[in-house]
Amino acid sequence: MILVTGSAGFIGSNFVLDWCAQHDEAVISLDKLTYAGNLENLASLKDNPRHIFVQGDIGDAELVGKLLAQYRPRAVVNFAAESHVDRSIHGPEDFIQTNIVGTFHLLEAVRAYWQKLPSPVSGITSDLAGVVGQPSRMASSSIRGAGGEGATKTDFRFLHVSTDEVYGSLAKDEPAFSETHRYEPNSPYSASKAASDHLVRAYHHTYGLPVLTTNCSNNYGPYHFPEKLIPLLIVNALAGKALPVYGDGQQIRDWLYVKDHCSAIRCVLEKGALGEVYNIGGWNEKANLDIVHTVCALLDELRPRADGKSYSEQITFVTDRPGHDRRYAIDARKIERELGWKPAETFETGIRKTVQWYLDNQGWVNNVLSGNYRQWVAKQYGE
Ligand code: NAD
Ligand code: TYD
Repeated sequence: MILVTGSAGFIGSNFVLDWCAQHDEAVISLDKLTYAGNLENLASLKDNPRHIFVQGDIGDAELVGKLLAQYRPRAVVNFAAESHVDRSIHGPEDFIQTNIVGTFHLLEAVRAYWQKLPSPVSGITSDLAGVVGQPSRMASSSIRGAGGEGATKTDFRFLHVSTDEVYGSLAKDEPAFSETHRYEPNSPYSASKAASDHLVRAYHHTYGLPVLTTNCSNNYGPYHFPEKLIPLLIVNALAGKALPVYGDGQQIRDWLYVKDHCSAIRCVLEKGALGEVYNIGGWNEKANLDIVHTVCALLDELRPRADGKSYSEQITFVTDRPGHDRRYAIDARKIERELGWKPAETFETGIRKTVQWYLDNQGWVNNVLSGNYRQWVAKQYGE
């Protein structure tokens, strides 16, 4: 069994869906269900006995400790975070609370659990068995399939999912971020993620906790909350609204299809060397304005406007984001060289799939826009 946090968000839900489609191993999902958490993303797993959802906070060390003791996972994959740069500018406090304080409490709970796991060499057994607490709130009517098999001190992993934004902003001609690039975060979001990365590193060096850290570039794909650039463009374009481009639109991001990010995380979990950092990227550096034109061209082809004009007519340049990082680019050679991972999608194939997914899933979009997704738990589980 593995424990996945932030599993109702964009990347976490893609990870859990892919995991359950490819593995027999059970998943326990922990998510606070903030505005960004949407249990509808996991609706297809509702009757899957190998998936257990628990609503709760990574900062609730008592709850996390009980879940670890009860299910005895062999790994924790930490996606839970406040993730939107613009929100971090307007209100940084939640970012400090979840990304820094929450990660700290999660690490403490994981450390206590890991230290008591049996060591295969000494044969010492755990004293954790049988400690079962009631999670703060269950989204499913009861926890099913309790009892992880064979988690040991040696095999246990804590995988922390982080971002390329911790490295700061690159000039046009600077080489892409490698794993040894200095940390130079510029937004409250990236600063809080940087702090969490440092805590994870410290828990390895100080306590020997078997950690892995991944720093990934911008993701896109299904279930992406429409406050981020690509889903916002698709949703606004179809609604006849403005397509807001910050500043001159020449900021560069390195885009990775979310399913490729998920396959990279599975690869690092399986083969990554303890305490190591792996940068994950798609070798797809694009200026924001090029992204906007690409999305418009795909929509022009797949769902033309009634008046026959291009969606690009809706592009509107707006005031730039304060402290806006100019360029991110990931050097993903280490994960390719050492672990043999490569992305499967090009930007062209991934963005076409993404636009098509949003066209095919207008119900999901409408539930998000209307706020109905927040009632999903009650609707589905009668709570
Ligand atoms: P998201 O905002 O879509 O999802 C975050 C999830 O975490 C939500 O379901 C939310 O309810 C949950 N959450 C928030 N606070 C919590 C708490 N205190 N306890 C438990 N759950 C909590 O984010 P995402 O885009 O899926 O990103 C997931 C992770 O990947 C984050 O750590 C982010 O920093 C990192 N990341 C994201 C990107 C990207 O492009 N989206 C790129 C690189 C790294
Ligand atoms: P975003 O999706 O918020 O991701 P991040 O800030 O983590 O990279 O934004 C991607 C880029 O798009 C970023 O340079 C900001 C820009 N942007 C716009 O130009 N307009 C928008 O409406 C949004 C949300 C983002």
